Amino acid sequence: MTKKSRKLVVVSNRGPYRHEATRGKERWVRSAGGLVAALDPVLQRRGGVWVSAKQAEDFDSITVASPQLEYELAYIALKRGDERGFYEGVSNGVIWPLLHSFPPTIRVGEAPWPNYVNANREFADMTLSTSGPSDLIWVQDYQLMLVPGFIRAKRSKARVGWFCHVPWPSPDTFGILPWRQEILEGLLGADLLGFHLSEYAQHFRECVEQFTPYRVSRNAIQYRSRTVKTITAPIGVPVDDLQALAIDPDVEREVGRIRQVIGKRQLILGVDRLDYTKGIPERLAAFERLLRRDRSARSRYALIQVMVPSRTDVKAYADLKEEIDRMVGDINGRYSDTGRIPIHYLYRNLSQRALFAHYRAADVAWVTPLRDGMNLVAHEYVAARTNEDGVLVLSEFAGAAKHLKAAVLVNPYDVEGTTDAVHHALHMKRTEMRKRMKALRAEVMRLDVHRWADKYIGALEGV
Ligand code: UDP
Ligand code: G6P
Repeated sequence: MTKKSRKLVVVSNRGPYRHEATRGKERWVRSAGGLVAALDPVLQRRGGVWVSAKQAEDFDSITVASPQLEYELAYIALKRGDERGFYEGVSNGVIWPLLHSFPPTIRVGEAPWPNYVNANREFADMTLSTSGPSDLIWVQDYQLMLVPGFIRAKRSKARVGWFCHVPWPSPDTFGILPWRQEILEGLLGADLLGFHLSEYAQHFRECVEQFTPYRVSRNAIQYRSRTVKTITAPIGVPVDDLQALAIDPDVEREVGRIRQVIGKRQLILGVDRLDYTKGIPERLAAFERLLRRDRSARSRYALIQVMVPSRTDVKAYADLKEEIDRMVGDINGRYSDTGRIPIHYLYRNLSQRALFAHYRAADVAWVTPLRDGMNLVAHEYVAARTNEDGVLVLSEFAGAAKHLKAAVLVNPYDVEGTTDAVHHALHMKRTEMRKRMKALRAEVMRLDVHRWADKYIGALEGV
């Protein structure tokens, strides 16, 4: 069998689409989040199978103009008893905050670990029955860290990769997990482990060194009789498709509508899943400061904050929603005038066209997570700015900051400093703006998602 004929089998908890046909009308609903946004165009181009358990839900999805699906979808119905504990209890209640270095929010001791183990076993079994011995199996993200090990146990010669879409913290933080060794051994069932940044890969190898007996060298781990490699491959977006979307006439029309609502004010844009890692309260506090600094500010600036509902049954997310609602209400109550409100708060998903119209309409994109593996919203904003204008204000704690150095970089915990940076962005001279945006665009093009996939898949084929 030639390399090219190996089938690609992608495995993730969240699947890419839900298809609906009601009264002859077709609708494709695509899931929110960076993982799906990046991998869908890759599979569209290469073909293959996508194995997943959670379909796009209405509350956290984006409606896409009917795509011609060039790959197969395979769904797993997880056992009811495991589903909640796996998704809400362990994956998003414990592992997500931990990998993002938010230990204080975690109740590790109460987590239903057996549900995570069972669900991962179900994923592995389904993947084995969907794939042949020479296929390339590519497991995704923190929900499925035991899957490579379970696959290896049943198919010793399988070609298995895993990619980490989130940060990997230092051993001090990772070591909090009571199941740290099981997780590391599960991952070492893979041939190739991918990370966005070299520091995440480095942290991972340090964890292996500290919590397992296996020998670690520069970019590899000697695990029993096999060598497991680590690779740094920063993810990106499908630049050509997004640029074409950005200049679509429908998008242009929507830009005109948004600009009309905002009037003469400068527009600042935030787009995030509603997640405590995204730094939304800090951003609102900085915006309030901007308005407070001088009385004319409210007639000069507007903020549109798009917040995509996410993991609403996890308590930390529900609490955050309440806090944000309160802050937005408070700021709008104090700084609105009749017919003019400072924060337009959209708590829902947008269509992809509407999202890109917002990127096109915004003078400044405000992307300030407290911690983020990469952050594709930053890449998308830059891809949408085909006129080489607009300013990206970016958190230095987003993985994207390692590459998008021409952004205005801020520490989101420093509210005063962030306010200054946004003020600077809003008053930036055109020459500086263009120079920065040109450099950002070159970088976003270099990090195109198809190059990311080629690099990773090429390495997986080569191991
Ligand atoms: N997004 C979406 N629906 C929306 C707004 C945004 O699906 O209403 C997408 C957005 O286009 C981006 C992804 O969600 O591709 C967010 O990815 P990012 O890496 O920024 O963060 P994540 O959500 O993965 O933590
Ligand atoms: C991030 C994670 C993905 C996840 C997505 C949406 O991008 O890295 O693994 O799918 O958020 O979260 P959800 O819990 O809705 O799948």
